[in-house]
Amino acid sequence: MARRTVVTMPGDGIGPSVLAQALRVLDAVGFDAEYVHGDVGWACWVNEGDALPERTIQLLAEHRLGLFGAITSKPKMQAALELRPELKGRGLAYSSPIVRMRQLFELDICVRPCRSFPGNPLNFVRHGPGGGMEEPRVDAVIFRQNTEGLYAGVEWTDPPAEVRASLALHPKFKPFSATAGRDLALSVRIVTRRACERIARAAFEHAERHGYRSVTVCEKPNVVRETSGMMEEAASQVAAEFPGIALRSVNIDAQMMWLTKNPEECGVIVATNLFGDVLSDAFAGLVGGLGFACSGNIGDEAAVFEPTHGSAPKYAALEPQIANPIAMILSAGMLLDHVGEAEKAARVRAAVARIVAEGRVRTYDMLRLPGGPAVVAQGAATTAQMADAILAAL
Ligand code: NAI
Ligand code: MG
Repeated sequence: MARRTVVTMPGDGIGPSVLAQALRVLDAVGFDAEYVHGDVGWACWVNEGDALPERTIQLLAEHRLGLFGAITSKPKMQAALELRPELKGRGLAYSSPIVRMRQLFELDICVRPCRSFPGNPLNFVRHGPGGGMEEPRVDAVIFRQNTEGLYAGVEWTDPPAEVRASLALHPKFKPFSATAGRDLALSVRIVTRRACERIARAAFEHAERHGYRSVTVCEKPNVVRETSGMMEEAASQVAAEFPGIALRSVNIDAQMMWLTKNPEECGVIVATNLFGDVLSDAFAGLVGGLGFACSGNIGDEAAVFEPTHGSAPKYAALEPQIANPIAMILSAGMLLDHVGEAEKAARVRAAVARIVAEGRVRTYDMLRLPGGPAVVAQGAATTAQMADAILAAL
């Protein structure tokens, strides 16, 4: 395997500490890579007026492979207030660097595996038939369209007159047409057939490669007829190319209800952006939550892997750091899979599985402790100690 260059973007808060631990794991598993640092996050916004500076975009354009920690973002007013004085009043607007990165590099396939590790005290349990408890083995992989849908960013409060006029072409706009300027907000759900087909195909290919027997499309085509309808149509077209894999269709709301009833029956799931975001957080909750939720943002030309958690600012300044590095380490494992290092990726997952099963080393979230400086004295492993244990298991 040729030596890889990975752009590391630690970001803010707990991002740098979990990313540092993931790099130790990649080294230990023998991944032959060079790492180049990319600035991203709140400090870039405050000092430069851009949370994703051009130099980081250039690094990604060059190397096309990234590991991202987490960033802090804040509401509009707060963002404007914290800008360096000389940058204020220049009309700079904060935008999320990870959302921008997905759009700039067309990272349209978001993959979020939610697999339970046996022995994780955070796994979902339910009452069994005989009054006992049972712990369903969850193994769902969510394929979320990552660049369109309700996150396309085409939105207005007080839409321009031309937009209102266009909306008036639709009979169903009538009840809203008299709503005054600032009282009307619109977020446009944009869906293209090409993107639907790409995410559906990615889901089916994953199912085929990894032995899942079905792909479930989770939309709401009976109400959101045009956009959810297009996703369903694309999924059934793609399904025809995969005769061995069943296509199921479940409405998003029904899926959330079924979530805790039979999560073990879900394999690969595909959805548009917002529904996919909701689904992946919901499934992550069944398998340990944010400390375990890994993800990949994948395009034809580039890919960036990241835990789904944010920067957990409350814990940013703690010494030692207490965040669970497993989500970040599993994201690094996904990067290994992506670059064709399946055997190394499997070793990383096996090491995590072993440490979770053994149960001697647990971060505060796994002990269900309220986070804070006291957790170490209460028996919680630090971020580094959890990584040490995983390294030893390797
Ligand atoms: P968050 O994910 O940062 O934290 C929520 C809570 O989850 C934390 O307070 C902590 O109790 C727990 N948690 C998160 N990661 C954990 C880990 N690795 N181990 C153990 N516990 C963990 O979400 P929150 O508080 O809503 O947002 C904080 C900041 O992060 C905000 O500025 C938000 O905009 C940003 N954010 C960034 C994301 C990204 O970088 N992709 C994603 C989500 C939020
Ligand atoms: Mg989310």
